[in-house]
Amino acid sequence: MLKIMIKFHIVSLSDTVCLKRAKTSLHILYLVMTLSVIGGSVTVVQGGTAILPCHVTDTNDDLTQITWQRKMREKPHNDNFITIQPRNRLQFVNGRDDRFKYIGNFNNKNGTLQLSNVALKDEGSYTCIFTLFPSGNQKTEIPLNLLVPPFTSIKDNLPTLGTEEVLFATCTAAGSKPPAVMRWLTGALGDKVRTTTNSTQCDNSTTTTVSSLFGVPTREINGHKVQCVISGDSLTKEETLPFPIQVYLSPTEVNISVISEDSFECVTEANPNANFTWSRSGQSFLESAVKEEGAKLQLLSLTAYLNGLYECEAANSYGIKHGQLYVHVASACSAAWASFGLLLSLNAIGATWFFYKSGCFQKCLEQ
Ligand SMILES: *[C@@H]1O[C@H](CO)[C@@H](O)[C@H](O)[C@H]1NC(C)=O
Repeated sequence: MLKIMIKFHIVSLSDTVCLKRAKTSLHILYLVMTLSVIGGSVTVVQGGTAILPCHVTDTNDDLTQITWQRKMREKPHNDNFITIQPRNRLQFVNGRDDRFKYIGNFNNKNGTLQLSNVALKDEGSYTCIFTLFPSGNQKTEIPLNLLVPPFTSIKDNLPTLGTEEVLFATCTAAGSKPPAVMRWLTGALGDKVRTTTNSTQCDNSTTTTVSSLFGVPTREINGHKVQCVISGDSLTKEETLPFPIQVYLSPTEVNISVISEDSFECVTEANPNANFTWSRSGQSFLESAVKEEGAKLQLLSLTAYLNGLYECEAANSYGIKHGQLYVHVASACSAAWASFGLLLSLNAIGATWFFYKSGCFQKCLEQ
């Protein structure tokens, strides 16, 4: 996560003007004859290592001390914080901070510092001052800029089936510096969805960006995959958060379908998928006679014991619906020639009746 950009600004003048001040876009250089103090502008990702470059060239003056000053958001006055004396002796002025390491060399008039594990509070302006004799103090200012990658997330707003526009999801890039850029890839959905983006700046100069995705929660839009794409200087590469649009739905009407002459299945539409429970009204299941497996109910033996009303319950976190099945094993027939009576789903609009033929049914009729 190390990203360092250093721009050097070197200015030298060969004329005889003493202490001429030259302004560059980023910092101020003091120049004495051919003497130059070389600094730069540093940009580093939070947690990375910054090199604060500073050295003086083209002088035979004696160097007596290098002083580093800084001003930061929390401490807006320029204060000394490090001094470096002959034989590379580094001293902290207002408390030790072992993240700073002197990597220059006093004899070479190089005051370069290394700062590891850079935090947002370190951002500011660093000034390095060379105390020279006879020319006096020469300094340069080095801005330290931080890049803070955002915390990214996507949140489902859990829309339920409807006909009005609702919020589907929000995509968030929290605490980014500079602000993150956000866009949605909505593929074929086109203008069936719309997005809005808002940013708020925090006191610590990071920005939280929230982008919202809106649309009408229809069956057709359910399951469509969209993506929230987050980019910006604070991220080394684009981040893509996939989001399958979900339209939530409580179980609709419960239908019971016939799989074979002794097994049935409970069917409904629901999102998330419904859990099914079979029960027998007024009686418990006879373990040996009935097998329940999620949506499926199987009658293991075709005896009159099983006659009665069975109920299937379909439930998810949004609701519960029931379906009913009436089982009648005709007692007039031998066990081997059992037949089912009627199968009905009471929950349907009106009532759905299924006639169900078996060899026995026909045989009973013949009799
Ligand atoms: C900046 O401030 C926000 C809001 O107070 C906080 O959530 C975030 O963690 C801060 N970021 C840094 C890098 O200190």
